[in-house]
Amino acid sequence: MSHDEFPTDDPAVVTCGLPYANGDLHVGHLRTYVGGDVYSRALKTLGQQTVFVCGSDMHGTPVAVNAEQEGVSPEEFALEWHETYKETFPRFDVDFDNYGHTHDATNAETTKSIVRALDEAGHVYEKEIMVAYDPVEDQHLPDRYVEGTCPYCGEKARGDECDEGCQRHLEPGEIEEPVSTITGNPAEYHERSHKFFAVSAFEDYLSEFLDRLEGTSNARNQPREWIESGLQDWCITRDMDWGIDYPGEGDDDGETDLVLYVWVDAPIEYISSTKQYTERVGSDTYDWEEPWREDGEIVHVIGRDIIQHHSIFWPAMLNGAGYNEPRAIMASGFVTLGGKGFSTSRDRAVWADEYLDEGFHPDLLRYYLATNGGFQQDVDFSWDKFRDRVNTELVGTLGNFVYRSLLFAARNYGGTPDAEVSEEVDDRIAEAVDEFTDAINDYSIREAGNAAIRLAQFGNEYIQRNEPWKLTDEDPEQARQVIYDCVQIAKALAVIFQPIAPETCQRLWDQLGEDGEVANTTVDAAHEAPQGSFEEPDELFEKIEAERVDELNTKLEQRVEAATADEDDEDESMTEDTDDDADAQPADLEPVVEDRISFEEFQDIDLRVGEIKEAEPVEGADKLAKLQVDIGVEVRQLVAGIKQLHDLEELPGTRVIIVANLEEAELFGVESNGMLLAAGDEADILTTHDDSALGTRVQ
Ligand code: MSP
Ligand code: ZN
Repeated sequence: MSHDEFPTDDPAVVTCGLPYANGDLHVGHLRTYVGGDVYSRALKTLGQQTVFVCGSDMHGTPVAVNAEQEGVSPEEFALEWHETYKETFPRFDVDFDNYGHTHDATNAETTKSIVRALDEAGHVYEKEIMVAYDPVEDQHLPDRYVEGTCPYCGEKARGDECDEGCQRHLEPGEIEEPVSTITGNPAEYHERSHKFFAVSAFEDYLSEFLDRLEGTSNARNQPREWIESGLQDWCITRDMDWGIDYPGEGDDDGETDLVLYVWVDAPIEYISSTKQYTERVGSDTYDWEEPWREDGEIVHVIGRDIIQHHSIFWPAMLNGAGYNEPRAIMASGFVTLGGKGFSTSRDRAVWADEYLDEGFHPDLLRYYLATNGGFQQDVDFSWDKFRDRVNTELVGTLGNFVYRSLLFAARNYGGTPDAEVSEEVDDRIAEAVDEFTDAINDYSIREAGNAAIRLAQFGNEYIQRNEPWKLTDEDPEQARQVIYDCVQIAKALAVIFQPIAPETCQRLWDQLGEDGEVANTTVDAAHEAPQGSFEEPDELFEKIEAERVDELNTKLEQRVEAATADEDDEDESMTEDTDDDADAQPADLEPVVEDRISFEEFQDIDLRVGEIKEAEPVEGADKLAKLQVDIGVEVRQLVAGIKQLHDLEELPGTRVIIVANLEEAELFGVESNGMLLAAGDEADILTTHDDSALGTRVQ
C-alpha cells in the first residue's frame, strides 16, 4: 500500500517527541521541535489540513528522580517545567495547535481506555518477574533508579535504556550488575507480578507496517533488525506512585498498586492533545478521530534515540487497540557538541534560552537546524558553521536578493511596477514550488529550504543578467518587467520560506504590502500577482561578525572543558547521573606505539578527504560494505568492514578520510582501491568538520 501524495483529502496530524518535564531545553531538543514545526507549516503551505500537537512528558523516572533531588513532589516539579516549555516554544515560533501534558485528565482517560482495549483484546498478560530492589532504602528500583551494564552491547546503561550504547530499550530485570542510583548499593532482585504487553505477537504486523512506513529510513531499518533478532514483550507497569494508575475492571481504577510505564501514556498524549484541539475548535473544523481512527495522516517527528518506541512499541499498541498507524516517522540525527552528546546535568549544551539571550533571531537557528545536514545525520553544533550559513545564504543570497529588488521597486515605482510576470520567471517559480512539494513528500525539510535558497540565487542572477539599473532610461518597459519579476520572486520566497523562517517571511510579506498572514497562504500564492505599493524596505537579515563567533566559541569551549573535567571526576560514580546522552567511555586502551616514524614516512601516506556516494552490502560477507567514494579527482571503490555497525542507507553524503595510496586488494571478489579510516570496534568513521574540498590532502 502506498500513500497519496501530500496534500491529501484527509486531515493530517504532526506530532513531536514530548519533552520530559525535567530540565531546560537545549538546541538538541529543538531539532525535534523546529523539525516538526517546519514540517507542519510546510504541509499547511501545501494546502494539507494539518494540526500540530505535542505536550510535556510528566511521568516516569527521569522526572521522579530529579524531583526527589530537588525535594519537591513530581507533580509540582513537572508542572513547573511544563509551564516553562509552554513559554519557550512560541519564542522559537514552534507553533503547536495544542500543547497538553501527560498528567492531564484527557490523557489519563485516553490512556486507560487504550490499555483496557488492549487488555480486552487479549494483548496483556500478567507475569511474575524479578525486579531490582534497594534493600537499604526498602524501595523498588524501576528504570532510572538502577544502572548497570547493557546485556546486548556491554555498555554502561540505565534501567530502561541503553542510551550510551546500542540504544535498545531494556526490560526490567535485564540490566546486568545492577546498582541502585539512590544509594550506590548493588541492587537485589525481588519477585513481583507485573503486566505485559504482548509485542511479540505483532511481529508480522510490524514487518508489514515497516514496509509501508514513510519518513526517514533509519526509522525502518533499525527496527527491521530488531524484529529479525526477535521481539520481546514489554512490561507496561512499574512499582511507583508517580504515573497513571493501571486501570482496574470497569470504573474501578487503581485496583493494583502499579502505575503504567511512562512509555505507555507518553505517546498516547499525541492522541489526547489532538482531542483537546478538537474540543476547542469543534469537530466540524477538525475531528481528532479522522487521523487517529479513520482516514487521516499521522506524522511523528522525533530524535533517533526513540525510534524503537515509535516504530515498534507504539504502532503495536495502536494496532492492538484499534487505532490507525502512523504514515511517517521522521527521526532526526543527534545534535552534538565537539563530537559528544549534550549533557544536561553537566551543562555541556547550548541552551534554548541562552541562544535567544545572545540576541539572535530565532529564524537563524531554525534555518541552521533545518538545513545544516540531512535530517538523519548527526550534526555537531558549531557557531562558526552557524555564522557561515547565516552570512552566506540568509544574508548573502536571500536577504540580498530581496533587499535590492524591493529597494529598486520602491525607489523607482513606489512598489510593484505595472507589468505582468514573464514566462521565464513564472516557470522558475513553478520549479521552486515543485521542488518544495517534492521535498515535503520526501520528508526533507533541508531540501525544502534549499528550494527557496536556489530560487533566491536565481533571482540574483536574473537581476545581474538584466541590469535593470541600465534599463530604466533605455527601455523603461523592460525595466518594469524585470523588477516586477523580482517582486514576484520575493513574494514566492515569502510563501515557501515561511515554514523555516516564519517571522522574517511575515516581515517580507509586510514589506511587499501584502495583507494578512503569509503563514495562512498556500503555494498558489507564489504565483498570484503582487500588487502592493510599498516603501523602502529594511534588510531582512544582519551579518554575524567574526568577533561575535570568537566570543561564543570561547564561552562554549570553557564550558565543554569544565563539563569534560567533571565527567572524568565522576567517572566511577554511578549516582545522581541524570544525563541525557553523555558519550561512551573508552574501553581498555592500547599503549601508544614506541617506535617513531619520520615526517617523510608519514608523508608517504596519501590521506584524502572524500564523500561517500553509494554504499551497499557485499554479498556473502557479514561485515563488509562496498562504497563508492568521491575523492575529487576520481570516484574510488572501497570495501570497508562497517556493514553491521552503520546503516548503509544513511552513509551517502558522509565526509570520510581515506588512505588513497594503499595497495589494491580483493575482498569477497570485490575490488577495494583504498581504505576508509575509522576508530575502534564500533567503526566510528573519521570525518571533517568544515567544508574542505573533496580530494584535499590530510596532513
Ligand atoms: N519524553 C521522551 C519522548 C516521549 S515521546 C512519546 C523523550 N524526551 S526528551 O526530553 O529526552 O527528548 C525530547 C525530544 O528531543 C526527543 O524527540 C528526542 O529525541 C530529542 N532530543 C533530545 N536530545 C537530543 C539531541 N542532543 N539531539 C537531537 N535530538 C535530541 O525522549
Ligand atoms: Zn546496549
